[in-house]
Amino acid sequence: MKKIVCANYEEMSAVAAYAVASQIRSKPNSVIGLATGSTPVGTYKKLVEMYKDGFVDFSKVTSFNLDEYYPIKHDNDQSYIYFMKDNLFNHVNISAAQINIPDGECSDPAKECADYDARLEKIGGTDLQILGIGNNGHIAFVEPAESLPLATSVVKLTEDTIEANSRFFKTADEVPREALSMGLKGIFSAKHILLLISGKGKAAIAKKLFDGTLSTSVPASLLNLHPNVTVIVTSDTQ
Ligand code: GLP
Repeated sequence: MKKIVCANYEEMSAVAAYAVASQIRSKPNSVIGLATGSTPVGTYKKLVEMYKDGFVDFSKVTSFNLDEYYPIKHDNDQSYIYFMKDNLFNHVNISAAQINIPDGECSDPAKECADYDARLEKIGGTDLQILGIGNNGHIAFVEPAESLPLATSVVKLTEDTIEANSRFFKTADEVPREALSMGLKGIFSAKHILLLISGKGKAAIAKKLFDGTLSTSVPASLLNLHPNVTVIVTSDTQ
């Protein structure tokens, strides 16, 4: 894995946004894998600026998000579809028909997951995947466990994740206990993965990615097996 160390969050966001914009400029119909969480917010902000400046055009882009809580209403301001509209989709010219995100309101989650993988496979995987990392080493909602899902599937959130994500909800009780998450196969379909890690709080987990070992108890450590991963970290993280 290549590592780029940035002075601060602002610089990390600019570097990541430039990588995404360059991908789209060189291949306008790129398939971009998108992540949620607080880490990529600055990247999306920069991409919106780049779009407004005419540097990047999303009209032919297809997006695949990593995950969504389940169940959750689309208009819940903590749903990931709401987050994506608020931070990116409502501000750029991406076509609604080309946005893919697991449906938190679906009635048949197993079918929703199978269809999601079928669509991702049909299009040939993502060209560029933005990833964040949970404090417990999760990527998307692939949580630490003895065995990890390859396919997009319904996953149970760990207590660590419920606690970490409760900061966005009024109470921890409101955090959905499950999610629909892309599995390792979908994540690894990316030709290039950009893993963003920011802040002191992530220093311990970031260190584990570079300790020369793999463990399903740190799902992100498996990224060491992917041929093209760029980890963009802030200097206080490493
Ligand atoms: C969430 C998402 C992940 C994200 C992670 C870290 O639970 N499912 O895709 O990377 O948590 O979030 P943050 O960037 O807010 O630390």
